[in-house]
Formats: sequence, C-alpha cells, structure tokens
Amino acid sequence: MAIPLQLLFLPITFLLMTSLIRFSQAAGIATYWGQNTTEGSLVDTCRKGTYDYVNIAFLINYGGGQTPQLNIAGHSLNSSEIETCQGLGIKVFLSLGGAASLSSSDDAQQVASYIWNEFLGGNESDSRPLGNAVLDGVDFHIQAGKADYLADLVQALSKYNTPERKLVYLSAAPECFIPDYFLDAAIKTGHFDYVWVEFFNNPPCEYTPGNTSPLFDSWDSWASYPGINTLFLGVPADPAVSPSGGYIPPQVLIDEVLPFVQNYSSYGGVMVWDHAHDLNYSETIRPYVSKSQIQYYAAI
Ligand SMILES: *[C@@H]1O[C@H](CO)[C@@H](O)[C@H](O)[C@H]1NC(C)=O
Ligand SMILES: *[C@@H]1O[C@H](CO)[C@@H](O)[C@H](O)[C@H]1NC(C)=O
Ligand SMILES: *[C@@H]1O[C@H](CO)[C@@H](O)[C@H](O)[C@H]1NC(C)=O
Ligand SMILES: *[C@@H]1O[C@H](CO)[C@@H](O)[C@H](O)[C@H]1NC(C)=O
Ligand SMILES: *[C@@H]1O[C@H](CO)[C@@H](O)[C@H](O)[C@H]1NC(C)=O
Repeated sequence: MAIPLQLLFLPITFLLMTSLIRFSQAAGIATYWGQNTTEGSLVDTCRKGTYDYVNIAFLINYGGGQTPQLNIAGHSLNSSEIETCQGLGIKVFLSLGGAASLSSSDDAQQVASYIWNEFLGGNESDSRPLGNAVLDGVDFHIQAGKADYLADLVQALSKYNTPERKLVYLSAAPECFIPDYFLDAAIKTGHFDYVWVEFFNNPPCEYTPGNTSPLFDSWDSWASYPGINTLFLGVPADPAVSPSGGYIPPQVLIDEVLPFVQNYSSYGGVMVWDHAHDLNYSETIRPYVSKSQIQYYAAI
C-alpha cells in the first residue's frame, strides 16, 4: 500500500505554515474621561473598544487639610459602571488633578490612606463615592499647585502593594519638558508602573509638521530616564486640545512615529488626550499600537 507522495508532504507543509507565528507584544491605549459631559458615560467610553486604561478625571482639593472632591464635571458614575469597564479588561484609575497642596510627609500619608479607603481596597470608610467598586490604581496628572511631597504620596500608595499582591497601579502624566516641575521626584521613586508623557503644548519636545526630531529626541531621553518602567506616548486627540502644538495626524503617527517609539523596550503604548475629543483617533491608530513582529522558524 503505497502512500502518495503528496500526502506525505501535507503534514510538513502544515507544520511550516503554523510555525509562521505573528507575535504581538502587548501595548495599550490610555485616555482620560470625566471633564466634559458631551463625551457620554464612562461605560460608553469603555465599550468603544479602543482603550485599555481609562483615567477618571479628576480628584481635586487633596492635601493641606482640604476635603478632597471628585470633580467629574456633572457626569454621574456608580460602582456597576466601573465594574462593567473592568469586566471588559480595562484598568480604571483615579486621576489626581488640580493644584497639589501637600503640606508634609504625614499629610501625604493621610491623603494616601484617604484614597485607599475611599476608592481602592481599603475598608475604613462608609461613604465611598463610587460604592464598592475598587479602582485599579491612581494617576498623577498634576500641573498646578505645589510639587512638595508628591514623591511621598506615590511612595505611600505603593506600600499597599506586596510582592504577592498588586492592589494599586500607579501612573503619571508629566509634560515632556525635562525635568517635569511637579512630578520629577515622584517619577524618580520608580514606583510608577506607567508614565504617559504629554508630548504636546510644549514646543521644545513636540512634533511639528515635517519635523519629528524634537519629539524623537525627547522620547529618547524619557526612555532611559531614572524611574521609568513603561513609557507611553501622550498625544492630543485633536488639534483643539493643543493650542501650543504637538498634534500628530494619525497617518503620520502610524507611518513615522510608532515605528520609532516601538523600537524602545520601555514602550508601552499611546495615551490619547482626551476622550471627549477622541472622535476616531484611537480607533484609527489602534491596530498599529502593539509592537508586532513576524517570526519565522525553520520547521525542518
Ligand atoms: C449605575 O448607573 C447606570 C447608568 O446611569 C444605571 O443604569 C444603573 O442602574 C446604576 N446602577 C446602580 C447600582 O446604581
Ligand atoms: C479591613 O482591612 C484590614 C487590612 O486590610 C483587615 O485586617 C480587616 O480584617 C478588614 N476589616 C474588615 C471589617 O473587613
Ligand atoms: C530600530 O532599531 C534598529 C536597531 O538598533 C535600527 O536598525 C532601526 O533603524 C530602528 N528603527 C527605527 C524605525 O528607528
Ligand atoms: C467638550 O467637548 C466638545 C466636543 O469635543 C468640545 O467642543 C468642547 O470644547 C469641550 N469642552 C471642554 C470644556 O473641554
Ligand atoms: C475620522 O474623522 C475625520 C473627521 O471627522 C474624518 O475626516 C476621517 O475620515 C475619519 N477617519 C476614519 C478612519 O474614520
């Protein structure tokens, strides 16, 4: 019983084809939600399907004995909406905005404890603004007030993590100009899992039509900056949000910018500012944000 030659070769051909594997290294898209009621609900934002991280913007008035306030510009938000987003695989962070006014290291500890009990895994509050929902982490988007003790705050929040249990992810949104006035010391603690640098509204370190050099030079400096773990390219969703420039048309981002930034091992994705202005920016770039490479194996 002779087996036809072609049949013998079939499994080998199959092996060759299946070993042509496309590797996609995880990278994601982050955005900010909460400062504009025209943008729809948090759940709509998550169901859009283009984001991996959503920062709720903003918690304000923390530190110096003030009563912290969740300022989400008239939006409503409840625990089941947050849990719906998390069920879609999205990490939801509370973003600290406004003017920082920490008065001491003790004050920073108290603010950390407040955030832990009101929004994260803590159990010492019966007035949690978002009910039983446990947010995934805390984002630092601080561009006003005092820079003091923000490093203590990030240290204090990171202490809720143990080697076995990651309970608080930490992220920061510095402006691209180095050093960032507010966040430099906090970044250097090395506790931020993600740093989404805003490469816009900052002419020395942003893209201008036809000139990628200031952006690329700045990215290169950030990629090896002390304390950086995972670096995101923060871009405007629309020229309207960056009056001082830095808007990168999606096709330029795809053709020129992503291939450059993806070459760095610290690259983690793109942050699109903000959701209210993101009509189709994240949707257009999403297929290109992950770094992928085709790997060929010799099967025989
Ligand atoms: C949360 O808000 C959504 C949308 O506004 C609403 O449909 C839902 O009933 C609310 N859930 C709770 C538990 O309040
Ligand atoms: C609250 O949390 C602490 C530590 O995180 C734990 O030891 C304690 O048992 C918890 N209390 C309740 C009532 O769940
Ligand atoms: C990525 O890095 C490699 C090796 O250093 C280099 O040859 C290549 O030109 C770089 N690609 C881009 C788009 O910068
Ligand atoms: C809210 O978003 C709309 C549409 O993108 C925009 O026209 C408006 O300026 C935004 N408002 C604020 C306060 O950002
Ligand atoms: C994105 O929106 C702009 C402006 O509304 C439009 O010109 C463009 O064709 C859209 N792109 C995609 C990929 O949908």
